[in-house]
Amino acid sequence: MDVFEAIKGRRSVREFESTPVKEKDLEKILDAARWAPSAGHCQPLELVVVKDQAQKERLARAALGQTFIAEAPVAIVVCANVARTSRRYGRRGEELYCIQDTAAATQNIHLAAYALGYATCWVGAFDEDAVAGVIKAPAGVRPVAIIPLGRPAEKPSPPQRMPLNKIEDEF
Ligand SMILES: Cc1cc2nc3c(=O)[nH]c(=O)nc-3n(C[C@H](O)[C@H](O)[C@H](O)COP(=O)(O)O)c2cc1C
Repeated sequence: MDVFEAIKGRRSVREFESTPVKEKDLEKILDAARWAPSAGHCQPLELVVVKDQAQKERLARAALGQTFIAEAPVAIVVCANVARTSRRYGRRGEELYCIQDTAAATQNIHLAAYALGYATCWVGAFDEDAVAGVIKAPAGVRPVAIIPLGRPAEKPSPPQRMPLNKIEDEF
């Protein structure tokens, strides 16, 4: 699939079929995350794949009741290993770079999943401590996004974007 087709065609999907995600496809999707850029190539990315139903339900509760997380066959928790970046870049690494790095990896996951016929949603609204508890994240590993992944059971229309001339600024 053409990269522009994936960028424009991808949608946030919040209804999923129960059809399992093929292991080969899951591996491709996780591998796409690994190829995202990272500041100083520090690679703070850590991914936790959750398939267990009870664990997905705990994630959904930690995400303020976003039950569609538990309906998807897989939930990927994207984490930032903060020390990997702050060791080199101090506060800027801790507060900015490791978040940007993991955001780039998150977008790669969305696009790769879409190109393989799957649907995802970027979930950022959650109680961070509660999610860390569900995945037993060690200290210094910060959950930054939850991505439910599965075959789509809805086809949302694309929400309007700000026009280009509104975001292309001359300050
Ligand atoms: C950082 C971030 C956090 C988000 N958190 C949530 C969330 O908690 N729940 C949700 O349903 N969608 C969430 N979204 C998805 C947005 O609502 C969605 O991307 C936006 O409405 C545009 O729709 P589209 O992704 O289909 O283009 C989040 C997106 C981003 C980038």
